[in-house]
Amino acid sequence: MAQAFEGSNPSPCTETMEKHVHLHKMIEENYTKAVRKEWKRHEKDDIEYKTTIYLLQRYLPKGGLILDAGGGPGRYTIELAKKGYKVILLDTTQANLDFAKKRIRHEGVEKNVLDVIKGRIEDLSMFEDKKFDAVLCLGGPLSHVMDIKLRKKTVSELLRVAKNDAPILVSVMSRIASICRLTIDPKFQDELGAPYFKTFVTRGDYYGGYGFTAFHGFLQEEFRELLERAGARKLRIFALEGFFYIRKNSTKQLEKNKKLWNIAWTTYLSLLERSDVVGVSDHFLAVFKK
Ligand SMILES: C[S@@+](CC[C@H](N)C(=O)[O-])C[C@H]1O[C@@H](n2cnc3c(N)ncnc32)[C@H](O)[C@@H]1O
Repeated sequence: MAQAFEGSNPSPCTETMEKHVHLHKMIEENYTKAVRKEWKRHEKDDIEYKTTIYLLQRYLPKGGLILDAGGGPGRYTIELAKKGYKVILLDTTQANLDFAKKRIRHEGVEKNVLDVIKGRIEDLSMFEDKKFDAVLCLGGPLSHVMDIKLRKKTVSELLRVAKNDAPILVSVMSRIASICRLTIDPKFQDELGAPYFKTFVTRGDYYGGYGFTAFHGFLQEEFRELLERAGARKLRIFALEGFFYIRKNSTKQLEKNKKLWNIAWTTYLSLLERSDVVGVSDHFLAVFKK
């Protein structure tokens, strides 16, 4: 994908703009084709979903207005609306928003979903400062912001629209977990020879072309620095799949044995914040305040 930009050399500014537009289009096209897949990704027993719900229960206030930024087909919006929160869903992919609107009606939670907005997380100027009692950006939308300056702007925007003391929960995709997967999983091992691989290891940037769409794979210390430089306080980072990252389906058998599953699950939860567990998790989630 990076090669698509080689050879064209107008002004650096135009080139950068063209690159952004191209990447935005690619990411939106990917999610337009994947609406159902995205919805199904979080079936009830999905580890990322279950861990995120666990952390939402732990950190969200008892009620109030929540922004679900990059909320996709609306899993979390609907779940929270069912619990009585007022929610605004924002996403860049129209097909996801159309699906979410239908699903919101189907689940009978229209009263609590105050708006479903097409927009980008880099620019939340439609919302005034300190509007929300909690701000969410879950499942990795920030990893799809490929430009570092725009990632900084996104974090500032998420902070700006949160009330003082409101929890902000942001999850991203892990660089180390992606490298582990490419190395361990025979389905992906051919990609170790792909031109992007070295750059991905050192910089975390993948511009698409081999299955998944463009994303930035974060190191946890890089994520921490990005958030703290933008003004995040009381920052904590949790794994969302932890050591289940590589064989998520391996839990299915174990879950049938309630006693053993209970031991595995409570052990897993107790280790979520360990740095070594965070690093290898597919996604990790930061909880912070402004
Ligand atoms: C992996 S999905 C996560 C959806 C949802 N938050 C969840 O966890 O189920 C990523 C979502 O981010 C959205 N997205 C990607 N880049 C975005 C951007 N710059 N602004 C807003 N949404 C974006 C995509 O359209 C997609 O719906």
